[in-house]
Amino acid sequence: MSRKYHVAIVGATGAVGVEMIKTLEKRNFPVSKLTLLASARSAGKQLPFRGEPVTIQELREDSFAGVDIALFSAGGSISKKFAPHAVQAGAVVVDNSSVFRMDENVPLVVPEINGEDIRRHRGIIANPNCTTAITLMALNPLHQAFGVKRLFAATYQAVSGTGAQAIEELRAQVGDIVAERTPQAKVYPHQIAFNVLPHVDSFLDTGYTKEEMKMQNEGRRILHLPDFKASVTCVRVPVYRAHSVAVNAEFEKPVSVEAARAVLSKAPGIKLVDDPAHNQYPLPLNCAGQDDCQVGRIRLDCALENGLAFWVAGDQLLKGAALNAVQIAELI
Ligand SMILES: NC(=O)c1ccc[n+]([C@@H]2O[C@H](COP(=O)([O-])OP(=O)(O)OC[C@H]3O[C@@H](n4cnc5c(N)ncnc54)[C@H](OP(=O)(O)O)[C@@H]3O)[C@@H](O)[C@H]2O)c1
Repeated sequence: MSRKYHVAIVGATGAVGVEMIKTLEKRNFPVSKLTLLASARSAGKQLPFRGEPVTIQELREDSFAGVDIALFSAGGSISKKFAPHAVQAGAVVVDNSSVFRMDENVPLVVPEINGEDIRRHRGIIANPNCTTAITLMALNPLHQAFGVKRLFAATYQAVSGTGAQAIEELRAQVGDIVAERTPQAKVYPHQIAFNVLPHVDSFLDTGYTKEEMKMQNEGRRILHLPDFKASVTCVRVPVYRAHSVAVNAEFEKPVSVEAARAVLSKAPGIKLVDDPAHNQYPLPLNCAGQDDCQVGRIRLDCALENGLAFWVAGDQLLKGAALNAVQIAELI
């Protein structure tokens, strides 16, 4: 009989957590027992798994007895405090927060790109930043063919990337504006409905935000390219779900649109949607709820040498979080 695993989800009630439950179900992950953990606020509530209700427990240091795989998605401070307890109890942790991503002892993995890296784990494996994972799904096949040097990008990031409260904030603001009431901004510093905010995560002394530097820092680790350079502007847009990224990438070797399309049409986890004459290109609405990321608008970059411009979109709750984490668990 094939082995089954006791899986715990930390942050089970969150935007990512609920997708983790659905992804385990959808991919028929061999779960013997599912433990759902969240804050004291959620203890006692229930969420369905395979048609049965599972009662949520309050996360505690001793929550991990008997757990084989712990999927963490409750924020950095929770991961920092509780992941070591899970490892001590014998679990392998797949962490969605950013706290371990730059730790040399923690593999940072996108299974389609560097799945082999999980062999080096010492109990914790990190899931990359969502925008980075989605961008690299398109960039890596091109890098394998042409050798990437550097990248410029602007992101269009959905509110669900901030979590469940931000989805509610956009919904409430749209309702307020339609009803001609003054919208309230609590999650973001400005109104997000009918607006775009060139501000994701906190600002650094350089003027970039932390989120913007993740593409270069995490990209270097995932692609095994210590000299990879990425200059990114991250923008929050009033989209519920799925991030989009406008990318301009420069390569070592000469590129062509035909060769890029040929490479991307065969790449795992990415779908080529590139027929501008028929208005076919990736849209966040079409990517929401889909496992595959989509790439299109591929053209020769007119300002870079050996450059390609393209548009990639993907469901950041799936490939950028829950799906990638469950794929890592499958590799474990
Ligand atoms: N959203 C995305 O697209 C995305 C993508 C990649 C990575 N991530 C990362 O995934 C993590 C979760 O993000 P999210 O968007 O799912 O956030 P969220 O919707 O705000 O959910 C947060 C989760 O953490 C739980 N939590 C909060 N405080 C806790 C505590 N003291 N003890 C135990 N559990 C606690 C919450 O439980 P209660 O319901 O009980 O409060 C909830 O289940 C973050 O680290 C985020 O950076 C998110």
